[in-house]
Amino acid sequence: MIPQWIIEKKRDGIELGTKEIRAFIAGYTDGSIPDYQMSALAMAIYFNGMNARETADLTVAMMESGSVINPARIPGVKVDKHSTGGIGDKISIPLAPLVASCGATVPMISGRGLGITGGTLDKLESITGYRVGLSETEFFQTLQTCGCSMIGQTAEIAPADKKLYALRDVTATVPSIPLIVSSIMSKKMAEGIDALVLDVKCGSGAFMGNIKDARKLARALVDTGTAMGKKVVALITDMNQPLGRTVGNALEIQESLDILNDTGPADTRLLTLELAKHMLIVGRVPSPGGAAAKLQDGSALSTFRQMVACHGGDLDAKLPIAKNQAPLPSPKSGYISKADADAIGRASLLLGAGRAKTTDTIDHAVGISDLKKISEPIEAGEPFCILHTNGHEDEAALFKTLEPAFEISNDPVEPPPLILEIIE
Ligand code: URA
Repeated sequence: MIPQWIIEKKRDGIELGTKEIRAFIAGYTDGSIPDYQMSALAMAIYFNGMNARETADLTVAMMESGSVINPARIPGVKVDKHSTGGIGDKISIPLAPLVASCGATVPMISGRGLGITGGTLDKLESITGYRVGLSETEFFQTLQTCGCSMIGQTAEIAPADKKLYALRDVTATVPSIPLIVSSIMSKKMAEGIDALVLDVKCGSGAFMGNIKDARKLARALVDTGTAMGKKVVALITDMNQPLGRTVGNALEIQESLDILNDTGPADTRLLTLELAKHMLIVGRVPSPGGAAAKLQDGSALSTFRQMVACHGGDLDAKLPIAKNQAPLPSPKSGYISKADADAIGRASLLLGAGRAKTTDTIDHAVGISDLKKISEPIEAGEPFCILHTNGHEDEAALFKTLEPAFEISNDPVEPPPLILEIIE
């Protein structure tokens, strides 16, 4: 196999064969194909795309670059959820224990935040002692004990994706549907799951800014998962405003605990329950009373407690708190017509809650809380939100970022729909 011939074919818009895709990914994984040739192929894929068969082949090749969890080692029906990433998206944290308390097993491999979108692992690490890097034995034991475990991608799971994702980040090749699909699905399919629910975010704070692109990504994800023999459904959900009322690691853990305590913001609760419902449907897990009953009777919360303990975490320890809390006041009264996810995500990054580069460290305590939601009334002087700061932000940049984040209408505003479409 001559790598440049494969690059040339894709550059000229010619379909790649299964063997060519497999050989290229195998060569990239073992180091015989250097970064510059992989970058060239990624850029050719970015411009010329891949058909469904090529995308499925790329996914399988990336999945097989590492080990695939033997499903027989995990008890029960194995179901997972993956979100394409958004602002304030803490849903995985209440969702995994909720679905586990309904009787499914949730072996969730999550990611860290990069850019404006947060990461489940960073949020979980706000809990004192929580270890995202369990050994294989500990992971299986946690699943056996609690029905769910939330860990980071190990060196063994889809190593080709680990290398390629870092390369795409610095070669402007992240927003390509076949590359996104193969990256997400290679990791998810390596978990040994039976079924998967995808939450494809759509809006200013998401990869996919409009419904047409979100639909294309959702369709490609569902088709690839189905071609690999799994039950997959995708929900396209709104990401024009943040989910819930908090953005920031420890703040989002607190909001997740509120959901598990059967309180919390209506949108976060609704999406948690809707995704749980679909996970139970695709996993064919009977759940008398539905998932809401497990929030009401406290069993989802006790599953979370148990899971945190299995990961070495202490849920009774205080979550980190920032030194200062500053309200951001509204200049006038009216109804919130915009609470822009992109601007709020950028502000949270400037506060130190996220990373601009993978090597940056994050501050678990900082972030934004008490966010007003679109359609809510606001009085002049009342805060749009509260900024939790530790003093390492550039104040001028922060206020410049937040200035266009909120808009107010004199007339009442309808709340936007949260669930836009379901792709089966
Ligand atoms: N998440 C991933 O894991 N990969 C992508 O390419 C995009 C989002």
